[in-house]
Amino acid sequence: MELDRDIAVAVARARTDDRATRRGWEMLSATGVRGLRMLHEGAGFGLLVLSERDRRALRVLEANATSLRSEGAAVVRCDARRPIARRQFDYVDVDPFGSPAPFVEAAVAALTDEGLLAVTATDLPVLAGANRAACERRYGAVPLHGRLGPEGGVRILLAYLATAARRSGRRLVPRLAYVLGHHLRCYVSLTRTDPEPKDPVGALGRSEWEGPRLPSGTTFGPLWLGPLFDPEFVDRLTVPPTVAHPRELDRLLQRWKAEARVPTVLFYEPNEIAGALGLPSPPGLTRLVRALQDAGYTAARSHVRPSAFRTTAPRSVVESTARAVAQV
Ligand SMILES: C[S@@+](CC[C@H](N)C(=O)[O-])C[C@H]1O[C@@H](n2cnc3c(N)ncnc32)[C@H](O)[C@@H]1O
Repeated sequence: MELDRDIAVAVARARTDDRATRRGWEMLSATGVRGLRMLHEGAGFGLLVLSERDRRALRVLEANATSLRSEGAAVVRCDARRPIARRQFDYVDVDPFGSPAPFVEAAVAALTDEGLLAVTATDLPVLAGANRAACERRYGAVPLHGRLGPEGGVRILLAYLATAARRSGRRLVPRLAYVLGHHLRCYVSLTRTDPEPKDPVGALGRSEWEGPRLPSGTTFGPLWLGPLFDPEFVDRLTVPPTVAHPRELDRLLQRWKAEARVPTVLFYEPNEIAGALGLPSPPGLTRLVRALQDAGYTAARSHVRPSAFRTTAPRSVVESTARAVAQV
């Protein structure tokens, strides 16, 4: 999770409000590595409450936090599924082993309006469709599966958070939602501003869908069908000088910044298009993306898979362009 914590440090540094007034809660702190890095390297908070239930982890957490008390670290032992003494925080972090579902309600209740909620899910196989029954039970959603499964998982998690936000009278605004290795993580804000005219949570069905080809099955979701990124938020992210993986982080940030300009649902891949069209070899990725841009569509590579790209072009145009590019 080192690179993931590097991202968290970049997020903490990118906040524009006054540090002294910021209050954060890392609900599931373990030994405190993520929260304390956000506090110290990210200059993230005036106060950061780090909570943990396990006594052994707590002892290490307390030792690790000692030197950062003057920077605002405060350690508590508690069960994070219950709110801490009616306190509210403008940053809440849910970073469990497995599903974040048991913690979402307490996290949403503890978050101020416009606050930032960070949620990790390491039960990616469930969200990505390897165990449909578990996904239905845990998230109330039918998962996509196959190559689109991980992005489907991000969208199921966002839909789940959007529903929890709605129960608290607020609406969800994703700032950054990504797949990284074997987990997902979303940074979202909850706001009381007017809802979007079209509900961003819905189902995807093969019959009426004109985007990337869906796997077998009839209807998937509910999924978040709005954007995964807030371009302004993502543009503010830079590589902090202290991070463990500056090159990997820089590569991810570049990709997200481009991808944020193409807020479409799901992605294409050259080999998948070639398979569907029976082309003898896949079109070149760079040439295909450029050809779509030359035709007036937005298109960018996606971080989700090495050869994935998003585009505003309808599937018929993507496929005719792919045919033309493959023939050259
Ligand atoms: C994945 S670890 C957290 C990692 C940490 N955020 C980091 O990046 O270093 C999850 C932690 O949640 C703790 N935990 C699990 N259930 C809890 C609960 N109900 N309340 C508080 N802590 C809990 C576990 O003991 C474990 O240490």
